[in-house]
Amino acid sequence: MTKKDFTAVVPVAGAGTRLRPHTYTYPKVLLTVGDKPIIGHILDDLHGAGIRKVCMVVGYLGDKIRDYVSRQYAHLDVTYVEQPEPKGLGHAIWLTRRSVAGPVLVMLGDTILDADLSKFMGSKDDCIAVKEVADPRRFGVVETKGGYISAMVEKPERPRSNLAIVGIYSFLNSMSLYNALQRLVDSGRTTKGEVQFTDALAGMVKAGHRIRPVPIEGWYDCGKPETLLETNRHILGRKKFSPKAKGCLVVPPVYISPTAEVTNSIVGPFASIGDGAKIDSSIISDSIVNENAAISNMTLSGSLIGPSAVVAGSRDQLNVGENSEVRFDRSSC
Ligand code: UTP
Repeated sequence: MTKKDFTAVVPVAGAGTRLRPHTYTYPKVLLTVGDKPIIGHILDDLHGAGIRKVCMVVGYLGDKIRDYVSRQYAHLDVTYVEQPEPKGLGHAIWLTRRSVAGPVLVMLGDTILDADLSKFMGSKDDCIAVKEVADPRRFGVVETKGGYISAMVEKPERPRSNLAIVGIYSFLNSMSLYNALQRLVDSGRTTKGEVQFTDALAGMVKAGHRIRPVPIEGWYDCGKPETLLETNRHILGRKKFSPKAKGCLVVPPVYISPTAEVTNSIVGPFASIGDGAKIDSSIISDSIVNENAAISNMTLSGSLIGPSAVVAGSRDQLNVGENSEVRFDRSSC
């Protein structure tokens, strides 16, 4: 079995409610982090690991995702499955059962990972990525015995281990995964109204299926404004872009798209400036400015500026969505 035999299942159908207002008009996975949309990092990692077949589960604002992926990732063989309502991660993956056969690697669409994917695809066992976390109560948590997972609990009140499940799952035979999901769907069991993937995996473990926990290096969530900015800092720090903006002070690490126009400004550290953005007479650090946004006379830090948003004035922390317009009149401040 080679890496090319694997199909990556990438669910991206969620509504991204924690990233509103940005996600009212833009799907979460198309928001920029570092130098490209979140989903771009994930598809690049999959391609870099030798995967060619991808099955994406789309729903909320799915046309925008299809459009971006078909333009930018024509070198991947991508199929799409519709999830009309976000009924949970388990439900999203279950929907791919007629489109995927053979070995499967599930990657969440909103989590960027520092992980050697060949550890998952080269293993003789099914695997789940785990990471030690300080407070496991917010996560699916695994217990282990003899090198394998012996129990899994979603968001336990009293965790019996600090090993959290963090977004990569590999199955050598997709049938074992889909059979477990089918049993869960048939049982009608939901938690908080959703078909939980962890419940299906816990069922597999309980039935004696051997799944190996694989510790991974880094795990960068993009689900909330503060974690998106944190992930942005990590990507900029790691990729070390060296952008130049004539007549401006650039304090690395910074990403400035070649099609952005930056004039008379101080940019960085930890600023990402997207395609076609215009920055004038501003100081911008620790912020993400999405494509075609326009910012002038601002001092911004810890801010997310949506695509095509216009911000002009002198306040210093904003969370502004697509096509918003914010202006501060200096004389009234
Ligand atoms: P999340 O729960 O983090 O994403 O799911 P969300 O639901 O979009 O975000 P919030 O909680 O409303 O802010 C992890 C991944 O699983 C996908 C999401 O799109 C995300 O990539 N997902 C989740 C689905 O595809 N379908 C679902 O029903 C739920």
